Amino acid sequence: MSRQFKVAVVGATGAVGEVMLTVLAERKFPISEIYALASARSAGEYVKFGNDEVMVRDLATFDPTGIDIALFSAGGSISKEYAPKFAAAGAVVIDNSSVFRGDADVPLVVSEVNPDQIRNRPRGIIANPNCSTMQLMVALAPIHRKVGIERINIATYQSVSGTGRRALEELGKQTAALLNFQSAEPEVYPVQIAFNVIPHGGDFLDNGYTSEEMKLVWETRKILGDESIQVNATVVRVPVFYCHSEAVHIETREKITAEEARALLEQAPGVEVVDERKPGGYPTPVTHGSGRDPSFVGRIREDISHPRGLDLWVVSDNIRKGAALNAVQIAELVAAEG
Ligand code: A2P
Repeated sequence: MSRQFKVAVVGATGAVGEVMLTVLAERKFPISEIYALASARSAGEYVKFGNDEVMVRDLATFDPTGIDIALFSAGGSISKEYAPKFAAAGAVVIDNSSVFRGDADVPLVVSEVNPDQIRNRPRGIIANPNCSTMQLMVALAPIHRKVGIERINIATYQSVSGTGRRALEELGKQTAALLNFQSAEPEVYPVQIAFNVIPHGGDFLDNGYTSEEMKLVWETRKILGDESIQVNATVVRVPVFYCHSEAVHIETREKITAEEARALLEQAPGVEVVDERKPGGYPTPVTHGSGRDPSFVGRIREDISHPRGLDLWVVSDNIRKGAALNAVQIAELVAAEG
């Protein structure tokens, strides 16, 4: 019998954690025992794991000895405190927070792009990229390898699920309240999210960008292994429950036509091209992305304002490929090491 693994999901009651459990079950990850961990608040509750239910345990009192693989998605402070403890106990930690992503001795891995990097993990920790970077890398890595990318100019249209369960509830509540002529009080976001768009994600930095925007800069360079790529990002939160969309403008080192890019992307792992030049012939969160695995790419066209410019529209489920699915794919790569 092939090897079975003891797997822990930290943050199992959260928006990402619950999908980690779903994806582990869907993909029949070889599990001997599964542990669902969250705060003391949820200890004793049950979460779904395929057709089964697993009891949630309190992370603070859990002994990680014997855990082979731990998937973390409970926020940065929890990862900072507990990921090293799990790694010290012998687990390979796959961490969805941003706390380790910039560390030179922690690989940042997109399963289709740089899977070999998982081996470079002296601390036993592998970082899962930010959701917006993830879907972008799946679409752009094949183009970068073929013709080189000099510059990426991107505006994101990010769904609220990326902020977590409370944000999903906030959008639902505000929408219902406003449709019933009641007021909508912002709690999670600084201003009303229902029927609005917010040009802000993360914290404001000294250079005028936000931390979510700078993640796209730093993570792109690390994943593609190319510090020379220039990235200019604007992150926008939109009143969509699931799936991030991205308007992407790239300047390549060598010219690539829209047709060549389309043909390249049609062969690329993790990409699905939806690019008919007619109404509805493009991916959207509702029609294509939500609940599905690929990075959907459409609106591929040559930029009329730049001789080596190419435009793309990229849509993907931020909770699946953007977080849970890629974490499980990394776990599969680790499991395949034997
Ligand atoms: P809990 O439900 O017990 O608060 P989301 O990103 O959707 O908001 O989910 C965050 C996840 O992180 C939840 O599973 C949440 O568990 C978990 N979490 C938050 N704080 C802690 C903590 N102090 N210890 C363990 N898990 C935590």
